[in-house]
Amino acid sequence: MTASYEVVVVGGGPGGYVCGIRLGQFGKKTLVIDASKLGGVCLNVGCIPSKAMIHATKTYKKAKDGAVMGVIAKDIAVDLKQMVAWKDGITNKLSAGVGQLLKANKVDVLQGKAVLDGPGRLIVTKPDGSTETILAQAIVLATGSTPIQIPGFTFDHQTILDSTDMLSLREIPGKLAVIGGGVIGLELGEVYARMGTQVTVVEAMERVLPFFDADVVRPLQQKHAKLGLKYLVSHKAKGWQAGATGGAVLQLEDSKGQPVELAVDKVLVAVGRRPTSAGLGLETVGLQPDARGFISVDKQLRTSVPGIFAIGDVAGAPMLAHKASREGEVVAEVIAGHKGAAMDVACIPNVVYTDPEIATVGPTLAELDKAGVKYKTGKFNFGALGRALTANAGEGFARIVTDEKGGILAVHIVGPEASELIAEAGLAVEMAATAEDIALTVHAHPTLAEALLEAALAATGQPLHQLNS
Ligand code: NAI
Repeated sequence: MTASYEVVVVGGGPGGYVCGIRLGQFGKKTLVIDASKLGGVCLNVGCIPSKAMIHATKTYKKAKDGAVMGVIAKDIAVDLKQMVAWKDGITNKLSAGVGQLLKANKVDVLQGKAVLDGPGRLIVTKPDGSTETILAQAIVLATGSTPIQIPGFTFDHQTILDSTDMLSLREIPGKLAVIGGGVIGLELGEVYARMGTQVTVVEAMERVLPFFDADVVRPLQQKHAKLGLKYLVSHKAKGWQAGATGGAVLQLEDSKGQPVELAVDKVLVAVGRRPTSAGLGLETVGLQPDARGFISVDKQLRTSVPGIFAIGDVAGAPMLAHKASREGEVVAEVIAGHKGAAMDVACIPNVVYTDPEIATVGPTLAELDKAGVKYKTGKFNFGALGRALTANAGEGFARIVTDEKGGILAVHIVGPEASELIAEAGLAVEMAATAEDIALTVHAHPTLAEALLEAALAATGQPLHQLNS
């Protein structure tokens, strides 16, 4: 069977399905193809389910820690099966919702694995094994990424686990090793540490979350120490053997090359993700990914082959759902012929859903230093903020980084609800606002958002609720 479309989007994740909706709204005859459930990794086995488990385990921990506020909760327990079932209910509902949105926008959906078969042609293998040929005037590759597997740690999904496995465990492990102190390792490591698992994070670099400024990560490190979440930094994972009574004994190497052993029940490997560009038939259209597997695109998401576009994780870092969605909108505008449609990466927020949360927009101080950019900072500690103390969450700070004229270059927040607070910073960067603009904006009192106001006041040299800023 052969069908013909103006645009075919390969991949129904937050990049592909958003692109599909926009194309439908622009009146383009569009097909979205996905081998699995709509919503992609983010909605089904990534951002959304992990946030459900993060929220559930934070609720558990808050209940346990309530005595200081005079809340005495007894017999609090975790029912992991119920937590997983609740999480699955959320992802199923959202995935069905994506299907409804596409349908309402007159976008066709085909379940199957698509492979390019020369210019403007795709072969789709459906779940029943049958194939369908699709012709397309334009193709958008939105195929996402998969977890990187490191030598000696082939995922067996029993003992050596990927992030997807961690979201559907049947039992809470007694001891868990997390290889990779990045975003996934810390978010999911914390989930299990809050449920009582002894978690050890093995990180090859000198510190966890090496992509953020060290001072931003410090409040998190301090809280992890209290939680009992251990780090083995400057340690490389070399391999593992089955433990005498099950589980795994990891062979690690410390910074001096000395062997270190670590016995655990389960191992999560979270050392980054690889773009899904292999097996897509790219060679049939003359498209060559780079050495790491990314498909190069310009600001309009065009690949080197006319009529083929790429968005989301497969099109390069940062591998973030909201970057993919924005690219999905932009590419739809480009295909619909909107003049000036182009991707702007300056205001893409970066969020880590740990406790405390980390959220940033713009470069780190280290990156600015490296680039030789002159900047000023204004900072405010949550420990001096009334609303943070009333939430028993006084760790961390908000920092506004400006150029010499006060234009906002970056905002760094580590603290309660940083993931929500960063939205104001994103708007500020998008609108080229100054610290004075934020300082002049009346923020409701008492709120956590006042941390940004106070940081802005400090950045303009007019601090209110702090000394010697
Ligand atoms: P990551 O790139 O954040 O961190 C990987 C860490 O593993 C790094 O610290 C690295 O130094 C370390 N590492 C690499 N090889 C190692 C080895 N052999 N032994 C020990 N440590 C090693 O990667 P992660 O956490 O897997 O996340 C993948 C992607 O998913 C990221 O690009 C992130 O943007 C995205 N993501 C975003 C989330 C968010 O926005 N909240 C949540 C989860 C994932």
